[in-house]
Amino acid sequence: MNRLKQKVCIVTGGALGIGRSAALLMAAEGAKVAVADIDLAGAEAVAATIRQAGGDAIALPLDALQEESIAAMVKATQAAYGRIDVLHNNVGFTDGRRDNTVLGMDWDYWDTVIQLNLKSTVFAARCVLPLMIENGGGSIINTASMAAVQGMTQPTMYATAKSGLMAFSRSVAVQYGAKGIRCNTIAPGMIMTTRAPNWPKPMLEVFRKHTPVPRFGLPEDIGHLVVYLASDESGYVTGQLFQVDGGVGIMNPTTADLLTL
Ligand SMILES: NC(=O)c1ccc[n+]([C@@H]2O[C@H](COP(=O)([O-])OP(=O)(O)OC[C@H]3O[C@@H](n4cnc5c(N)ncnc54)[C@H](O)[C@@H]3O)[C@@H](O)[C@H]2O)c1
Repeated sequence: MNRLKQKVCIVTGGALGIGRSAALLMAAEGAKVAVADIDLAGAEAVAATIRQAGGDAIALPLDALQEESIAAMVKATQAAYGRIDVLHNNVGFTDGRRDNTVLGMDWDYWDTVIQLNLKSTVFAARCVLPLMIENGGGSIINTASMAAVQGMTQPTMYATAKSGLMAFSRSVAVQYGAKGIRCNTIAPGMIMTTRAPNWPKPMLEVFRKHTPVPRFGLPEDIGHLVVYLASDESGYVTGQLFQVDGGVGIMNPTTADLLTL
């Protein structure tokens, strides 16, 4: 109940999916949560749910494509709660129709993908770090993807941006560890969020076949890890990559076929 008591946590992209789940779970552990999203009504709904359950939350507008909007989110959280202990950099997306193979991708889309998935995360960290250092510490949790860890047919830009986050997290961990800052990366696998209905059925079947845990992920599978990484329980954990994907990719490539013999 109180694993995050009094901790002030920002969740970007908190209106839906993984971010929403992380916001609700952190609030249930006593955190004060700033739910930031381009969908302000959705963020308000999450904050209201938290308050109705007796927790403390505010909703903030955020367009992660705009640096001034990221800076304003951090400033507003600091103004509302007087400190920031946790930044869950969750926002991220790509459009598979524009971001596919190296030669097939829409080059005009590159800057958007890099801004939304990589630059916005780095910029948000730059905004909170001085405040966390002043407070004596904090936890930054970045969101990569299995696409950053394993080669895939697509999306190329998204994979490139997300893999940059792993190096960035280690840089933060090394450079600011002595100031009490920890920084880790979560790489989700196939998580059933708003984007799931767009996934073609044959593709889902291929993933199911190659995943030892026989189901797709739920937002809570990531949310519980966010709570742990936000809490003091993970005080000796930094610079790490956590793959939360039911084990897809750990199996010997022959396994799926052998299981059907
Ligand atoms: N769902 C998956 O299977 C999966 C897999 C790997 C990685 N991820 C990563 O996890 C994170 C969350 O994914 P999800 O599936 O929960 O997403 P989602 O699409 O369900 O929700 C994303 C949230 O971000 C908000 N958002 C979109 N653009 C924004 C912007 N410019 N500024 C501010 N907010 C914006 C949306 O309004 C929404 O509330 C992303 O970084 C994603 O890349 C997800």
